[in-house]
Amino acid sequence: MDADDTTPVPPPGCPAHGSGGRVPLYGPEFAADPQAYYGFLRHYGPAAPVELAPGVEATLVTDYATALQLLQDSGTFRKDARRWRAFNEGKVGPDSPVAPLLAYRPNCMFADGADHLRLRQAVTDSMARVDTRRLSRSTEQISGYLISQFGARGSADLLGDYAKQLPLFVFNELFGCPADIGDRVLFGISGMFDGVNADKATAVLFQAVGELVALKRSRPGDDVTSWLMQHQAALTDEEMVHQLALLLGAGAEPLRNLIGNTLHRLLTHDRYAREGGLIDEALDDTLWENPPMSNYAPHYPATDVEFAGRHLQAGDLVLVSFAAANTGPALQATRQAGSNRAHLAWSAGPHACPSKEPARHITVSAIENLFNHLPDLRLAVPEDSLSWRHGPFHRALAALPARFTPVQPVHGADRADGPAPERTPGGPAARPERVGRWSQFLNWLTR
Ligand code: HEM
Repeated sequence: MDADDTTPVPPPGCPAHGSGGRVPLYGPEFAADPQAYYGFLRHYGPAAPVELAPGVEATLVTDYATALQLLQDSGTFRKDARRWRAFNEGKVGPDSPVAPLLAYRPNCMFADGADHLRLRQAVTDSMARVDTRRLSRSTEQISGYLISQFGARGSADLLGDYAKQLPLFVFNELFGCPADIGDRVLFGISGMFDGVNADKATAVLFQAVGELVALKRSRPGDDVTSWLMQHQAALTDEEMVHQLALLLGAGAEPLRNLIGNTLHRLLTHDRYAREGGLIDEALDDTLWENPPMSNYAPHYPATDVEFAGRHLQAGDLVLVSFAAANTGPALQATRQAGSNRAHLAWSAGPHACPSKEPARHITVSAIENLFNHLPDLRLAVPEDSLSWRHGPFHRALAALPARFTPVQPVHGADRADGPAPERTPGGPAARPERVGRWSQFLNWLTR
């Protein structure tokens, strides 16, 4: 699939010069202006040759109809990453920066056929049992707690202080984590995504999730972990651990970015008034134009195949650009005709996100509650000084500095002790109310 004579010539300054015609989707240039890249990639036709990290080659589908064709053809295109030829041949190592999101794990994201159906049914049935009123209530409580940590300052980084924290706290509640396990889940997921001590963070997460599974086997509760366990799919302990780690990981990072990107839209587009209905509209516009998962849905052809004008070998890595498909010319007419949910931000086909309703719900509640408490919220820096995190898969702000009129803490106003120090997992025991962040939230809630 190397560039041939028909390969478009990149515009001057485009880093595709000198990389064998493959367009690199990493680094600061791509993060600064991904739409310019998608515009260029469309010159190749419905699919284009890209590089996800130095030396990691892939084919990226940028056209909507072609993307749907791929996502719905699970006979030709498989999800099981043990088929990934470049990985099997050692051309991409487990230490590659893209390996954590691409290398095989035994969970529903990397399963095909009957295995996938069984694992996924357990997830969808368990998520369907989530009570939306309870979800709203806990999102509001957690939102109130986070606002109480920065409200008196009159300024905050809405990414680091809010959008990043909220999903992790909500998940601890949804999955029924007691304080000591929840603290380690928070530590593990944050570390994995921040890439700081990622190995240790992953080990802490898997250990904590393992303990949660053991706990719920002996004392089930009214939570997603127990419902997964009680499901007729009869998941083993090992399957439970991998499913839970997937749900927490696949949920927390895109949810953070959905909250962040929707807040960004609300703060940078005057036309949205800060009311419930318009938050929904800003959320949909974000899913169309700035989806949190911008390029993903890794698939591998089962055999050699001609697809979208390209020759693919069995085991070649093919991804879908949800961001390019959503914004391409083919979809503009559909969108203008009023179909507001035809976008691919949640993917499509058998592996489409099984949690879009709870994810929407958490996002809208989190944003509504924030504007209810801080009605004059505004950007603290010029829009063009905001920076976006690098990486081929996500559309994610690095920070979202904002200002507002300072407010007194919404609950627990008597507590002037500020955030408790992070507890090092396995470190010395501390006074119960001064340990990790999940414990701190639970203390705040019961005061
Ligand atoms: C409550 C939060 C969330 C949870 C628990 C969750 C969970 C999951 C799971 C388990 C899968 C794998 C499904 C399968 O392979 O059958 C998945 C896929 C996916 N999710 Fe979500 N998700 C959440 C939020 C989001 C958000 C906010 C977005 C972005 C708008 C998103 C976008 C996607 C996409 C694009 C896929 C397809 C990935 C692929 O095909 O490889 N998810 N999600």
